[in-house]
Parts: sequence; C-alpha cells; structure tokens
Amino acid sequence: MSGIGILGFGAYLPSRVMTNDEWSEYVDTSDEWITSRTGIKTRRIAAADETTTDMAEQAALAALADAGLTAADVDEIIVATDTPEVYAPDTASFLQHRLGTRTVPGYDLGGSGCAGFVMALDIARSRVQCNGSTVLVVGVEVLSKLMDWGDRDTCVLFGDGAGAAVVADRPTTAKIIACVAGTDGSRADILQREVGGTRKPFSKEVAKTEDFLRIDFNGREVFKEAVRRMSASAREVLERSGVALEEVDLVIPHQANLRIIRSVAKTLGIDPAKVFVNVDKYGNTGSASIPIALDDARTCGSLHSGDLVLMTAFGAGFHWASGLVQF
Ligand code: ACO
Repeated sequence: MSGIGILGFGAYLPSRVMTNDEWSEYVDTSDEWITSRTGIKTRRIAAADETTTDMAEQAALAALADAGLTAADVDEIIVATDTPEVYAPDTASFLQHRLGTRTVPGYDLGGSGCAGFVMALDIARSRVQCNGSTVLVVGVEVLSKLMDWGDRDTCVLFGDGAGAAVVADRPTTAKIIACVAGTDGSRADILQREVGGTRKPFSKEVAKTEDFLRIDFNGREVFKEAVRRMSASAREVLERSGVALEEVDLVIPHQANLRIIRSVAKTLGIDPAKVFVNVDKYGNTGSASIPIALDDARTCGSLHSGDLVLMTAFGAGFHWASGLVQF
C-alpha cells in the first residue's frame, strides 16, 4: 500500500499489576464499585525508578523494530504526554538523547490529555506530507507518580503505559486515510489540574494543603462530553473519507471506561463485537491508551491485514480526535 501510513507500532507496560482490591488499602473503595462503574479490574504501575522517558524509550524501540527501522531513520519526534519527565524541557528532548537519534526536532504535545496520541498522529501525518520525513509518535503516561493516591474519585481510574508509532510516506501495511480533531476550551473546567501553572503556582502553602496533585474532575460531565465528542468525530472522519460505518472492521476507542465505550458504540450504532476493549487490564493510560490498544489488538488476534480501523479519543481540554487507518 502506498501513501502516508504507520510503518510500525509497539507498546510498553510496566510489569507491576495492581488489582482493584489493592486500592482498598489506600482509599475507601471496592472491586465491586470500580468494576461496575468503570470496567477496570487491573492496571499497571511503574517501578519506583521508572520514568516517562524510560517507558517512552521501550515503546519507541518496539515501534522502530516493527517498522524495520532504527533510531537513525527518525527525522522528527512527537511525544504526547501529560506526565512529563520534568517540568521543562519536554520529554521529547530526553527521548531524543536516549534513543540516540540525530539532532532532529522533538517536541511534546502536552495537556491534550487522552486525545494526545491521535492528535499527534494527525500532526505527524501533515509533517510527513510537508517534508517527507519519518516521524516517531509516542503516547506515554506515568500517571501513578503524579496523581493523588488518596483521592478515590480519580486514583482508581488510571494506569501507566506507553505506545508508539512510526509515520512516514513509504510502502506500508497501515495507510492513514484521514484524521480529524477538535477542541472546546469552554469545557476545560470539567477535567483539569490547576496547581503548578501561573494561575495557581506551586507554593509551600499549596504543599501544606496536600492537594497539589489534585485533579478537578466532574465525572458525569466528562462522561457526557466523551460520548458526544467521540461519536461525532468518529462520524466526521468516516464522512471525510467517504467510508460507511458498516465498512469499519475494528473500532479502537480511548480506554477510559467501559460504560463510555459501550455508550459510544450504541450512539454510533456499531456492533459492540467490533469495538476493542482492554480497559479491564490496563485502566485509563491517557495518551498511551490508543497505541497500547492497537498493539494489544494485534497481539490478541483482533487486528488483521485488510482491516479498516477507526480510532477515536477524547481528553482534557476538552479535546477529541479520530483517525481512520486501512491495514
Ligand atoms: N470507590 C467507591 N466510591 C466512590 C469512588 C470509588 N473509587 N469514587 C467515587 N465514589 C463515590 C462518590 O463519592 C459518590 O458517592 P456519594 O453518592 O456518596 O456522593 C458515589 O461513588 C457515586 O459517584 P458518581 O459520580 O455518581 O459515580 P458514577 O457512576 O458517575 O461513576 C465515574 C464515576 C466512573 C468517574 C464516571 O463518572 C465516569 O466514568 N466518568 C467518565 C470519566 C472518566 O472515566 N474519566 C477518566 C479520566 S478522563 C479521560 O480519560 C480523558
């Protein structure tokens, strides 16, 4: 197949598996509550000495190997993450050095939450179109290190992980047909972390309140927006591609919550059997969720050559993005 596409992809998950029951040791919760509200059973937690760059590197190496390329072939690096290695510079700088690529441009797409990877894929596609480069796109989150382990509203939802893809204009097995993305900043307040920015700089006073890791989160509003925006952008990318929903073989939605995934499937009117789910195993891994799911779908035998795959994601911002890929 010719055209701009994904030459290879891969994922990395930390080895420590944390069950719902283990969360009961930290907060007032239960396996029954977490399972019935979210569909999550386990998630992966990074090791004490494992950082964002460590995980991004493993996913990047897997994607490069899958593409039959090495770091020397990379012309540009985009890292989608809300849990960076350090506050500044960005994680892409550390990743460039770690991989030993040439001194190619590298930058982060931060703050776009769980929509980050698909948005980055869209940017990569246009960069390839622009200058024929080979772009490494990584989605990575180490949420366990930057969340409040005492806030039951949010902590049980997340997991750590990384996924990556190599995008270029070469004969490929996965052609990117179209991507769409959008942002509605009027809904920024339903999912945000305030402390550390200029509005609420980190200070000793804030540290004393012990909620400096707090995520302000209106779960019900996020739920509604997620279903609305993922369904609409999925329809938009199909329309733009001239493809009917019935032609789609596999939907890979952002893995935030099983109920959201089921609602999107129902709103779209697609057979739930065509919708890939692994939120039960990994929880919500933010911007890493889509590439991890893509890799998992291939490993599980849910992704076949010739499949038309629809990816759709939403995230804090409120951002959303969908992409259609022909394998
Ligand atoms: N364990 C036990 N009880 C809990 C927990 C917990 N971990 N968390 C909250 N509760 C309590 C609440 O305090 C509340 O108690 P109250 O009635 O006494 O006040 C009760 O459970 C019910 O809370 P609801 O908000 O009604 O629960 P809901 O059914 O809406 O489920 C959830 C909450 C899962 C967060 C849901 O709103 C949701 O799925 N939202 C979507 C957003 C999401 O999953 N986001 C992930 C991050 S964002 C992203 O991916 C971009």
